[in-house]
Amino acid sequence: MEKSKVLIIGGTGYLGRRLVKASLAQAHETYVLQRPDMGVDIEKVQMLLSFKEQGARLVLGSFNDHQSLVDAVKLVDVVICAISGVHIRSHQILLQLKLVDAIKEAGNIKRFLPSEFGTDPARMENAMEPGRVTFDDKMVVRKAIQDAGIPFTYVSANCFAGYFLGGLCQPGSILPSRDHVVLLGDGNQKAIYVDEDDIAMYTIKTIDDPRTLNKTLYLRPPQNILSQREVVEVWEKLIGKQLHKSSISKEEFLATMKTQNYAEQVGLTHYYHVCYEGCLANFEIGDEAEEASQLYPEINYTTVHEYMKRYL
Ligand SMILES: NC(=O)c1ccc[n+]([C@@H]2O[C@H](COP(=O)([O-])OP(=O)(O)OC[C@H]3O[C@@H](n4cnc5c(N)ncnc54)[C@H](OP(=O)(O)O)[C@@H]3O)[C@@H](O)[C@H]2O)c1
Repeated sequence: MEKSKVLIIGGTGYLGRRLVKASLAQAHETYVLQRPDMGVDIEKVQMLLSFKEQGARLVLGSFNDHQSLVDAVKLVDVVICAISGVHIRSHQILLQLKLVDAIKEAGNIKRFLPSEFGTDPARMENAMEPGRVTFDDKMVVRKAIQDAGIPFTYVSANCFAGYFLGGLCQPGSILPSRDHVVLLGDGNQKAIYVDEDDIAMYTIKTIDDPRTLNKTLYLRPPQNILSQREVVEVWEKLIGKQLHKSSISKEEFLATMKTQNYAEQVGLTHYYHVCYEGCLANFEIGDEAEEASQLYPEINYTTVHEYMKRYL
C-alpha cells in the first residue's frame, strides 16, 4: 500500500517536532505548516529549515487565512495537528475549528488526527474546574470533526514522560530530586507514562491503519503502567539511595491549588485526576477502541527505567 502524504500542523512544538521526525522516519512524504505569523521567532525558523534539510516540505499557511489552510490540506492525505494545549505554555485547541472547516472544504482528507495526545476527553465529563477546559475544548473539536464527517483517529497518549517522570509525578517539577519527594496522597494510583518520541512513532504508525479508523487509540505500554511510588522506586534503584518521603492529602492539594494562577490551576487539576483518582488506568479500553503496543509490537518502546536513566 502506498504511504499517505502527511501534513503536520504545530510542527515546531514539543510534540509536533517529534511527529515530523517520526513521519520522515516512517518514509511518509511529510509537509509541515509554516506560519508567516511566526514573526521573528528564530528558533522556529531554524527548526523548520532543519526539517527541510531532513526531507520535509514546508508549506505556507495561516489560521487567519482560510484559503491557505485549504490549499495546504489539499496537498496531502492525512492531517495531524499538534497545536498547543498546555495552559502554562499556550492553549489554542479551539483554533482547530478553522482547520476542520478547511478539511471539510478540501474534501480529500482520509484521516485527521486532532491535537489530543493526553487523557481521553470523552471520559472526563465530570472533570473539575478549571482544568476541564482542556477536555471540553477537545470535545468541541471532536464534535466538529464528526459533524463534518471527517475520518479521524484520536490518540490518547496518557502522560508525556518528560513532564511526569522527570518530576517524579510532582507538579511544578521536571527534574527528579535526589533527596525528597512529595507523594500525592498514598502515591498508589496507577498512571501511564509514554516517551514523547514513542508517542510520535505510534501516532504515525496508525495513520494508514484501517483498524484505527474512526477510533480512539490508547497508548498503554504495559511496563509503563506504574504508581508514583513505583516510579520513585525505579529512580531510587538508579541512584542507589532512598528518598525522604512526605505526602500531600487530597484536601491540602486542592486548597493549595486555589492559591495558584489560572494556568497553574488547570495543570494541577490534571495532576489531581491522574494521581489521586487514577483516571488514566482505572478503566478497560473496551471493544470500541484500540491499544497501541498491541497493534504495533514492533515498536520497541522506552520503559520508565530507560527513560529515567537519562537523568543520572
Ligand atoms: N499528556 C500529556 O502529558 C501532555 C503534555 C503536554 C501536551 N499534551 C498535549 O499535546 C498537544 C501538543 O502540545 P505541545 O505541548 O506539544 O504544544 P506546544 O509545544 O505548546 O505548541 C505546539 C505548537 O502549536 C502552535 N501554536 C501555538 N500557538 C499558536 C497560535 N496562536 N496559532 C497557531 N499555532 C499555534 C505552534 O506551532 P507552529 O508555530 O509550528 O505553527 C506550536 O509550536 C496538546 O493537545 C496538549 O494538550 C499532552
